[in-house]
Formats: sequence, C-alpha cells, structure tokens
Amino acid sequence: MTTIEFSKALKWGAATASYQIEGAAHEDGRSPSIWDTFSHAPGNIKNGDHGDHACNSYHLYKEDVQHLKELGVDLYRFSISWSRVMPEGTGSLNPKGVAYYRNLIEELLNHDIEPMITLYHWDLPQVLQDKGGWENRATIDAFHEYAVAMFKEFGDQVKSWITINEPWCASFLSNYLGIHAPGKTDLQAAVDVSHHLLTAHGKAVQSFRELVPDGEIGYAPNIGWLEPFSPAAEDQDACRRGMLWQKEWFMDPVFKGTYPEELIQLFEKHNAILKIEEGDLDLISQPIDFMGINYYTGSLGRYKEDAGLFQVEEIPLDNRRTDIGWPIYADGFYKALTNLKESYGDVPIYITENGACYNHGVEDGKVNDQERIDYLKQHITSLHRAIKAGVPIKGYIVWSLLDNFEWAEGYEKRFGIIHVNFDTFERTRKESYYWYKNTVENKRFEI
Ligand code: NOJ
Repeated sequence: MTTIEFSKALKWGAATASYQIEGAAHEDGRSPSIWDTFSHAPGNIKNGDHGDHACNSYHLYKEDVQHLKELGVDLYRFSISWSRVMPEGTGSLNPKGVAYYRNLIEELLNHDIEPMITLYHWDLPQVLQDKGGWENRATIDAFHEYAVAMFKEFGDQVKSWITINEPWCASFLSNYLGIHAPGKTDLQAAVDVSHHLLTAHGKAVQSFRELVPDGEIGYAPNIGWLEPFSPAAEDQDACRRGMLWQKEWFMDPVFKGTYPEELIQLFEKHNAILKIEEGDLDLISQPIDFMGINYYTGSLGRYKEDAGLFQVEEIPLDNRRTDIGWPIYADGFYKALTNLKESYGDVPIYITENGACYNHGVEDGKVNDQERIDYLKQHITSLHRAIKAGVPIKGYIVWSLLDNFEWAEGYEKRFGIIHVNFDTFERTRKESYYWYKNTVENKRFEI
C-alpha cells in the first residue's frame, strides 16, 4: 500500500451547474434558456429528458449545502442561470432570481464553504439566441452587462469566479457537431462563437479588476489527452492537431494573445474564417488568476484520412471505459497537466471538474460505486504526481455533487457522488461520497 498525501494548502470542492440541477424552470420569473428550447425539441435528448425539474435544487438547496457541509469540502462551484437573474438577457434584474443565489451564497458562507461562481455554464437566455446568440458580437456586450451585474451583487461575498465553462463545448460541440444547444452544424458559426466567448471572457475579466479587486478570476476549458498511437510522424502530427483544437485554440489567445496559425488555416480550408476585431486579442489576453481545468478522458490518437477535420482517430488505451463510454486514461491527466506547464508556465490551476459516470442504483439504502472510487483514486494520484512535478495546483473539484441532467444524455448518465431519485428528488450518499469525505478530511488516501 502507498499513501498519497496532499499539503493542507490544497483546496477540495464539489461542482454542479444551474441547468443541470436547479429545475424550477418556470418559477419566479426565470425566462427560457437555449437548453429549455433544445431539450424540449424532440430527438435532441435521450429519453426526451429535459431540465424542467432536474434535481429540484432550487427548492432543496439547503439540503444540498448540508451534504456539502458533511462532506467537509472547502468550496462549492456552482453556476448562475443568466435567464433566472436577467430574464431579458440584458437590462433589469429579476429580484427573485437574485434572491435565490443570495440565499444559496449565505447558506454556504454560514457553513464555512467558499462559493465559486461560474457565470456561463451554457444556458444562454433564449431571447439572446433569437438575436443570433453567441454568433452575434452583441452577445459579448450582453454577457458583460450580466457579469458586471453579478460582480456588483455578489462580489462582496464571493471571491472566486469563472467566466466561461468549457468554451470548446459551447462552440464546437454545440455549433459544429450539433450535439449541444443550439444544435447547429456550421463550422463558421462555431469559429465565430469560440472567438466571441473568449472575447466576452476578457471583457468580463477587465471589469472584474475594478469591481472585485480582492477576488480571483479564471475560466474553465476542458482538455483531454491524445497520446500518439505510434512513433510514426503521421500519428504524432494527428495528435498534435487534435490537441491544437482542444487546447491551443482556447488557451493561446488567453495566455499568448494569438490563435494557432495552423488551425486558422485549416478552418479556412473548410471555408470558416476567424474574424478578429481590433482590440479583441488584448481583451482576451488580460492576465487571469487561474486556469480551471476540466479533465475526464484521453485516448491514443492515430492518423486516419477520413477521421473528421483533424484526421485523428481516437483509440482507447484498453477496454476500460466509464458508463458513458469514455475511455479511462488517468495517466493522460498527469500528461495534460505537465504539458500545460510546459506551454504556459506557472499559471495556477484549479481542477474545476474531474469525475466519472457510473449508473449504479440504490440497493438496501446504499449505492456501492466502487468503480467511481477507483477512477477518483487513479486520477487524484495523477494529480499528486503533477504537483510533485511542479504544476501549481490550487484545488481539486469533483464533478459532481449530485447525479444530474447530463445534457444530451439526459438523466440516465450519473456523475454524482450523491444519488438522486429523479421522481422523488431523494438524495442518497454513495460510497464514493464517504471515500471523498475521508480524503478531504485526512488530505490523504491509500492505493
Ligand atoms: C463537463 C461539463 O462542464 C458538465 O456540465 C458535464 O456534466 C460534465 N463535463 C460531464 O460530462
């Protein structure tokens, strides 16, 4: 047995997102978001699921904070539903929507749990989508207005902020691959959206400095790892291209003030032009306080002529996959983190999400999700190696506190350390909850 031990300075947390847990979709003045529209259109979500009720956390937030308290975490990462607090997308605030988050924040602070707010976890107000959504540059200003309003409302109590969650998903998965809202398959739209999201991020950061001078702000890109299938140059190159799409496209602009030229050209070959206006890159490359990293999976990458835009075929390392079908690659987590340090230097990192989908149910009042415990152990061991290798990690935040609405996969796919019965909203702590609690408390575990 080996003991994996962490310094007391490392923060531990758990994460959720508004549309995935809140429910109360039609209550207290919330207007629809693109996810309401998308999930109610037939054929988009498995089993016709939608987020109307989700985990009912809008009403059960006190119970959820109690679960967090007993878990012993330092912080809770949650997102604000833009259309709940600002139903017109811009303009006046909805007092009941704001009150919900104020109450949640107070409940957290009363229990000594630090709130970490994500401003955009994909639920764009539908009224803004009706005007073109993130394809329209005006949405950058709308986001800025919303962000400023939130900094003013909550900046005195909340010191950790994330602008955009997983910009790759909000742009390419949603507008090129068509899997997430708004469900488009248009490369030009996806390229426009990616640039506008990053510009909106930068503009919000700029105002944050004035409004919350004692706070910290970052964003939370997702990253996987592609390890070349063989030493052959074509496999090495295919992996590099695949990584350019996930990593450099969303990080070079922020940390270097440039987009990768090779990708600009590749998109151009497919008739998608990156349109940058004067000042955009200065905005985007505002210094930030941390990078949030969401890591779940990785594969071997092999060159294949007809494998998508990047001609890279993803091959799982072995047959181990989680219940959502994603290959398990804990070593890839270490590789991704050390690679980020090589590329961008010592930018402090929060692991803003890491976790696994396993669909165990409740039996005799218990949920024995040993596979999730194994996944977490392997990944947190990789994190430990990365820390030893000098990657400046500030915290680790598990996805997710609760089973919830897993976007296009609906409720069937469960990522929580707490089981949720979606008919009764009953919460049942899984074995992984107790394992994580123990780890957070002792700052160590055995492998
Ligand atoms: C990333 C997203 O941020 C989160 O919303 C999602 O549920 C998890 N990954 C799992 O897919």
